[in-house]
Amino acid sequence: MTVPRIRAAKGEAPIVMITAYDATFSRMLDAAGADILLVGDSLGMVVQGADDTLGVTVDDIIYHCRAVSRGAKRAHVVGDMPFLSYHVTPEEALRNAGRMVAEGHAQSVKLEGGRTVAPVIERIVGAGIPVMGHVGLTPQSVHAMGGFRVQGKSEEDAERILADATAVADAGAYALVLEGIPGPLAERITEAVSIPTIGIGAGVGCDGQVLVCYDLLGLTADLHPKFVKRYDSLFDRGVAAAKAFCDEVRSRQFPGPEHTFGLAKRPRAVG
Ligand code: KIV
Repeated sequence: MTVPRIRAAKGEAPIVMITAYDATFSRMLDAAGADILLVGDSLGMVVQGADDTLGVTVDDIIYHCRAVSRGAKRAHVVGDMPFLSYHVTPEEALRNAGRMVAEGHAQSVKLEGGRTVAPVIERIVGAGIPVMGHVGLTPQSVHAMGGFRVQGKSEEDAERILADATAVADAGAYALVLEGIPGPLAERITEAVSIPTIGIGAGVGCDGQVLVCYDLLGLTADLHPKFVKRYDSLFDRGVAAAKAFCDEVRSRQFPGPEHTFGLAKRPRAVG
């Protein structure tokens, strides 16, 4: 999947994006037919166990991008720019985006924000690195939002998010994540911008959908946000499988003869 093909999918076929953080998941999600694998800074929460995404570093993202890009055959790999990696100056943002592409082998980068990050998007896109935008509920602004809350419910806030989305598209982004906003607002933005919108907690009216792979597979034990559909319960199934191993080790059922190496046969003595 290339950036031009993703752009051309708008209005043609829904785009599927799933987060991935390592080569095994990348192979699995690529084999499932995901169009885009996002190395999201959500890894701070689901991989590193933090309460938010703010502690993730550029080096973390590069490490995980490298692993994901090794596993992906068809899917496009996007690296998420972490908190403070693009806020200080457009030059620093470009350097960090460049590292994610050159060292992590990401094919594009994603960053959060609207009108205030438009000059940064222009700078990165101008250097030949495609940028995916992200507006609405932007997790890196968790403290400013007072928690992970749905955005754009009031008319005034909806207008703000629409203006942000338009600014991101005008700055040259090739796609736009709409997170945690009412469905009718997501539809309005999708109609207003010429680039594909990819929703999470934004209803069915977007050009595509994204979920965190741990959520859709049921690997997150205690988090059940309304917008997530769990397609399996891999956490529970993993506990059951690991418990069976614990039991078999303790009862000496594992390893069996089929898992055990024998000695070489001794040649028979002749005469
Ligand atoms: O970090 C992430 O996983 C994301 C998605 C939820 C869009 O930004």
